[in-house]
Amino acid sequence: MAERVLSRDELRITSESDVVVVRRRAQTVAHERGLGTFAVAAITTAASELARNTLTHGGGGAARVESIVRDGKNGVRMVFSDQGPGIADLSRALAGGFSTAKSLGLGLSGSKRLVDEFHIDSTPGAGTVVTVVKWARY
Ligand SMILES: Nc1ncnc2c1ncn2[C@@H]1O[C@H](COP(=O)(O)OP(=O)(O)O)[C@@H](O)[C@H]1O
Ligand SMILES: [Mg+2]
Repeated sequence: MAERVLSRDELRITSESDVVVVRRRAQTVAHERGLGTFAVAAITTAASELARNTLTHGGGGAARVESIVRDGKNGVRMVFSDQGPGIADLSRALAGGFSTAKSLGLGLSGSKRLVDEFHIDSTPGAGTVVTVVKWARY
């Protein structure tokens, strides 16, 4: 698996305006990498949902947005990390319709469906790391 990282942005998420910045950066990188209209919309939506989770559930954290080429495929990778409370029941949080914040509970499940690769690592009391990748298709 040959992979090259063409650009990497580390963005802090401590306010609602940071969520907007992360969303915009994801959109720009996806567009630059040649993702199509639907793929750009998908990764942009996932960026917004996951950044908001980092802010509201994780108590703030960071997002890394990378422009990548792996085995000749162009893509966008995003890594959201926080040192918040973590997720006690991951399968329930991923199933959709579950929220500890009395919201819709569709951010994680929706994001998972919108991307090509989805990985979540969460430790109760220590934090959460969500990694997603979206590829351009030709
Ligand atoms: N970064 C995070 N840190 C802690 N808990 C999280 C995090 N992201 C998601 N969760 C938990 O997973 C649940 C489901 O997340 P999500 O599907 O985005 O729904 P919502 O944000 O509407 O609650 C959240 O209510 C929260 O309990
Ligand atoms: Mg959410």
